[in-house]
Amino acid sequence: MSKYIIDGGNSLDGTICVESAKNAFLPILAATILCEEQIILNKAPLFSDVVNMCDILERLGMKVKRQDDTLVIDGASATPRFVPVDVAKLLRSSIFTLGALLGRFKRARVAYPGGCDIGLRPIDLHLKGLRDMGVEITECHGVINCDATNLHGGIISLDFASVGATENLILTAVMGKERVEIVNCAREPEIVDMCNFLNKMGARIYGAGTSRIEIEPVKKLHGTEYTPIGDRIIAGTYLIATAITGGKIEVSGCNTQFFTSLIDKLRNSGCVLRAKGDKIYLKSPKTLKSVGFVETNVYPAFPTDLQAQILTMQTISQGCCVVQENIFESRFKFVPELIKMGARVRARDNTAVVEGVPSLSGAEVFAKDLRGGASLVLAGLCAKGYTTVNDISHIERGYVNLDKKLNELGAKIRREE
Ligand code: UD1
Repeated sequence: MSKYIIDGGNSLDGTICVESAKNAFLPILAATILCEEQIILNKAPLFSDVVNMCDILERLGMKVKRQDDTLVIDGASATPRFVPVDVAKLLRSSIFTLGALLGRFKRARVAYPGGCDIGLRPIDLHLKGLRDMGVEITECHGVINCDATNLHGGIISLDFASVGATENLILTAVMGKERVEIVNCAREPEIVDMCNFLNKMGARIYGAGTSRIEIEPVKKLHGTEYTPIGDRIIAGTYLIATAITGGKIEVSGCNTQFFTSLIDKLRNSGCVLRAKGDKIYLKSPKTLKSVGFVETNVYPAFPTDLQAQILTMQTISQGCCVVQENIFESRFKFVPELIKMGARVRARDNTAVVEGVPSLSGAEVFAKDLRGGASLVLAGLCAKGYTTVNDISHIERGYVNLDKKLNELGAKIRREE
């Protein structure tokens, strides 16, 4: 198991450009299944989730070639093979193969997805939406069998604006027979990006980014070249890392309008921020102030994927803060690890109360999931002494070369196998 050893107490200073968004790149990779022609994806990040998704595409008979940071994907020889549990369990996004295979072949057999253990994460909304579109579904021993021979259109209403369900339904509907309207759908920028990609291949999707998406079916999609959007969660992680270490940074590569909820919180904490286009500058104050209350919710509210990082920042901010997690049930697994480092946090159900302390101290801690793991690295950056973050494979699912990039900004981190 790999680990990071962090010598804390060094402030970050410099510039960084973030990679493509994991949560856009993964559904876009699945969407390539819909196309028989060549697709070129630029700025392909080397997150382990992306590597695993490419592996799934190859198992489905597709050709995936990496040329520097570009992926060349050829789906001419794709077949609707079974996506078995050994690969499906590696990432949550394996579930997008369901929608994409149904879209192209009108049948799919996919094992239940894995991903971060942050709550129950059922896929009932995906399956209900598909059934409402006429897909016949049977589930047996953790495998979902779908037949979309009788796929039809209509208005599909989601009980909750699920990101994954919205994306899966779009993937199924783009090459359907009739017009589909999805209401109460999710509005995340990564969904808009997937739709822009599909539209560039000839799909007719309207309204992405609003809570009502319309899909006019097309017969076929054509090859294209595409560059996905930058990762707002990584951008936010570097901003918080800098704030927590008392440094200054310019982060580029991601539209700053995608994280205004974070910018507001960072300003409340006393940071100076200047945001324009895809660049944001942050300078940390001498002492961070508590932001008082943070509540996660669907976009454009504060993202659940930045909850662990902002909570970690509150542990050394002056005052008290309440953090409420409204999306996932088990997203405070990193809290006991922070407590080992001297943080004062009480977490119960979906609420954590954080009382700021003057400083954290280094300890041996364990990453339990992707974002919680990243937040332990942030804690290590500002803690006195050495922190060892174990089980960093969780972190590498969504951050590439985090140690190297932080070192370039002035941190002292060593990666050990
Ligand atoms: C996506 C992101 C993840 C982010 C999350 C919320 C990807 C690859 N992952 O995950 O990083 O944290 O959005 O912004 O894009 N739910 C159900 N039934 C369903 C589907 C979801 O009850 O069928 C629940 C989930 O358990 C969770 C909530 O709805 O409590 C949100 O889930 P969803 O929006 O679907 O998130 P994901 O697509 O899994």
